[in-house]
Amino acid sequence: MLKTVRRTHTCGELRADHAGQRALIQGWAHSVRDFGGVNFVVLRDRYGFTQVTVDERCAEGVRQVASNIRLEYVVEVEGTVVARSNPNPDMPTGAIEVVPDRVTILTKTLPLPFSIEGADAHEETRLKYRFLDLRRPELQARLIARHRAAQAARRFLDSHDFLEVETPILTRSTPEGARDYLVPSRVHPGEWYALPQSPQLFKQILMVSGMDRYFQIVKCFRDEDLRADRQPEFTQIDIEMSFPTADTVMEVAEGVCRAMFQDVRGVDIGVVPQLSYAEAMARFGLDSPDMRFGMEHVNLTELLAGSESRVIAGGLADGGIAKGMNLKGGAAQASRKVIDGWTDFVKRYGMGGLLWGKATADGWTGPAGKLLSASEREAVGRALAAEDGDLLLLGVGTPSTVHAGLGRLRAHLGRTLSLHEREFAFCWVTDFPGFEWDEDNQRWAAMHHPFTSPKARDVHLLGTERTGEVLSDAYDLCCNGYEIAGGSIRIHDPGVQGRVFSALGIDEAEAEARFGFLLDALRHGAPPHGGIAFGFDRCVMLLSGTENIRDVIAFPKTAKAQDLMAGAPSGVDAAQLAELYVKNTV
Ligand code: AMO
Repeated sequence: MLKTVRRTHTCGELRADHAGQRALIQGWAHSVRDFGGVNFVVLRDRYGFTQVTVDERCAEGVRQVASNIRLEYVVEVEGTVVARSNPNPDMPTGAIEVVPDRVTILTKTLPLPFSIEGADAHEETRLKYRFLDLRRPELQARLIARHRAAQAARRFLDSHDFLEVETPILTRSTPEGARDYLVPSRVHPGEWYALPQSPQLFKQILMVSGMDRYFQIVKCFRDEDLRADRQPEFTQIDIEMSFPTADTVMEVAEGVCRAMFQDVRGVDIGVVPQLSYAEAMARFGLDSPDMRFGMEHVNLTELLAGSESRVIAGGLADGGIAKGMNLKGGAAQASRKVIDGWTDFVKRYGMGGLLWGKATADGWTGPAGKLLSASEREAVGRALAAEDGDLLLLGVGTPSTVHAGLGRLRAHLGRTLSLHEREFAFCWVTDFPGFEWDEDNQRWAAMHHPFTSPKARDVHLLGTERTGEVLSDAYDLCCNGYEIAGGSIRIHDPGVQGRVFSALGIDEAEAEARFGFLLDALRHGAPPHGGIAFGFDRCVMLLSGTENIRDVIAFPKTAKAQDLMAGAPSGVDAAQLAELYVKNTV
């Protein structure tokens, strides 16, 4: 206890065995009830709630002040802790009440835009008045979980010799590939800093500098389209180490994850299974599979290869695939209207439609029943282990649309139909392709970033017509269908780096212009190195059971990248712009 603190106890602290003691508590009036002569005021602080009972045991002056207390006034109470005649078992402090001999209203409040207790206000209003929203115990619990997760990660990394080193926020473009946030330089007219999309280049340079093991809990900035699990500024637990194998980095990352889940939730993450990217796509259609339940995809391409249905044959033409999954017992659950909704859902991912069939004693209903021949139904039914009452969901088309459509549908059904068998399921996805084809620019793009090491056995394929087959030493950690961390072993051989740049169509001049300082560092005795970064906000989302990233950030941005409380972004003075040599064109 700090010697100069006035309060003797927090609002969450008093128990039956404090009865008879003196207490001075401070907090917000969470509820105020006046029963004509008896006032019950529940005081709230970060630690809990305490009932203050003001009745005939109190002096008249005290009763007078207490009767003026309104919701969310800040109040100080000094008095005696008394055992309650009828304890409230739902309140940790429910065995006692404080009977005051002094009540002081420290501050009052303007009328509240929404009640702290009810969470019914629109999110925009809550974000505008975030200082009130954050008073809600639910949100405070999430920030506490966030703090504890950060401390657990720090403790783990510190105990394994990882040094916390800060890297610049005003820097130049990094290689993650989203749009940059730019900051104009006043001192260098016409020149700009970029805010880092991650500390990628600096953490690699720290390895060249011999720091051996680095970490940082750090803000990253990406101007990209936002989703429920994305923010324009978010936090990474960023990690890099020298002389590792991929397994070493994965062991460290599992350690961090284990520490966070153990500390915050008391959950053992267990043995984390590993899947190759190809296996994840085949079984789940996504590279961040939700492993909390089965309903895996089954490849039906061969079984349907000779189909006489124009729809199926058309979908399979030109390298198309067919996949299916079995929603066990789903036939009765899913009405026509519900299935139409799922059809619209998969169409958003480019699938032509959803080929569904309900397995009944009299055969299959639905489009699959119509389009598949008897022998195809037999074979597909066997492949999907179909039984009467099951709902079979099939997709036919290009691999990317079928994987995405059925993959997202599986995840969606898992969530909406409560198919999950466990609270948390983790997996590693490894052996990613190094490159993906960029249709717009007609060239190869790095699937992670251009410093990701190709697998040694695939280096010879770089720059050949088989570039697309090159696998990389990259790994992602997933939990419940979210990618919570991603990293790789880096290239430390300048020759290999040059070949990767040329496979990406980045010539020497461009490479020097964009990443010259890293390349220079790598030419001066770079140790083999690799690392990973956790999306810390996503981890806290999972730890606190929410699917909205804004719930775990004290002052988040909206889906339109605005801070409604601070009113950012905002216009600035013409004079300020002139000083920065910037002209507004809107
Ligand atoms: P990557 O780009 O995969 O890797 O990012 C690492 C993790 O950060 C999280 N993440 C986000 N979280 C919230 N909002 C966003 N906009 C957002 N973007 C990414 C994800 C992701 O797994 N420098 C590399 C790491 C490395 O190679 O070591 C990097 O940043 O959970």
